[in-house]
Amino acid sequence: MNTPLIDPFQRAVTYLRVSVTDRCDFRCTYCMSENMTFLPKRELLTLEELDTVSTAFISLGVRKLRITGGEPLVRRNILTYFQGMARHLESGALDELTLTTNGSQLHRFAGELASIGVRRVNISLDTLDETKFAKITRWGRLPQVLRGIDAAQEAGLRVKINAVALKGFNEDELFPLVEWCASRDMDLTFIEVMPMGDLGNEDRLDQYWPLSDLRARLRERYSLTDLAERTGGPARYVRLEETGQKIGFITPLTHNFCESCNRVRLTCTGELYMCLGQEDRADLRPSLREPTAPPLEDAIRAAIRLKPKGHDFDYSRQEVAGQMPRHMSHTGG
Ligand code: GTP
Ligand code: 5AD
Ligand code: SF4
Repeated sequence: MNTPLIDPFQRAVTYLRVSVTDRCDFRCTYCMSENMTFLPKRELLTLEELDTVSTAFISLGVRKLRITGGEPLVRRNILTYFQGMARHLESGALDELTLTTNGSQLHRFAGELASIGVRRVNISLDTLDETKFAKITRWGRLPQVLRGIDAAQEAGLRVKINAVALKGFNEDELFPLVEWCASRDMDLTFIEVMPMGDLGNEDRLDQYWPLSDLRARLRERYSLTDLAERTGGPARYVRLEETGQKIGFITPLTHNFCESCNRVRLTCTGELYMCLGQEDRADLRPSLREPTAPPLEDAIRAAIRLKPKGHDFDYSRQEVAGQMPRHMSHTGG
């Protein structure tokens, strides 16, 4: 039995986020710039290499795999990779195989994902207004995503909606979003916008809507009960007593959750990032491609020793501290 992955701060790494492509069919303004240059296909790990790395992590104690991107479902033949990972669900080595998606392709893939063993999906949706949706995604079409959500629910997938809280953008949709999710029996998680990408500090500061404010507004209308339950991710949950639904809060700015971090991120080129908000990383590709490189499991163990204590995101000073020039799509959120 392999000894599990423990980082220098005694945190066990049990959750791997795998970005399978840097491409996306949307360009959410807080995630990408309008004119992104995407990697040439030859730079990407092949589906077989993705399988090899993911399998190595599972043998080292990872219990949860979340597939991200860019948009994971725009990668060609990605279901082949999901099908491969199903063997780890079947053997009991993996507790959860899931994905975070913009929903645009779900109408095509929801049924197959469910039959492979995916049980729930997180779908990014910041607004229910078609015009605002087109604006924030730069050209996305809301009806296509809604069709994907229908398909996911019809296939029996549990759906969680991820909404980035944006001042002056979706503040007025707080209650409509909550009510819409309740009416469809979907969980809803709000996320504080993180200072990543190259959009300029001023913009991010203007957009930042602390979830402490959002929570106070929810309290005006609902009774909130804190839930101890976690999904293995960074969200903390409350139940709204009036509707029974679960609302999550991901608060990298107002309440740093790094002390309980259990995850690392694999990029589509085989780099392992130890933290979303830091540059510490290791390239695992040599261990996949070069016979003289250290064995993959050794390279992973060495990388985990680089895991930092946490991120430095901070909007409270004059300048935005902890700003990451890297785009969120690079490491898959
Ligand atoms: P669950 O399995 O449902 O708990 O999902 P999750 O929250 O782990 O994953 P999801 O892809 O839905 O991520 C939601 C948001 O949380 C994204 O904006 C991520 O960037 C952010 N997030 C996830 N992990 C971390 C983390 O370690 N640090 C920070 N700062 N943000 C994170
Ligand atoms: N801050 C917070 N969340 C972000 N996401 C993308 N960029 C940012 C950002 N700058 C979210 C997406 C998606 C998840 C993977 O990350 O909306 O739900
Ligand atoms: Fe694409 Fe998701 Fe980034 Fe939007 S947030 S551009 S949907 S990867």
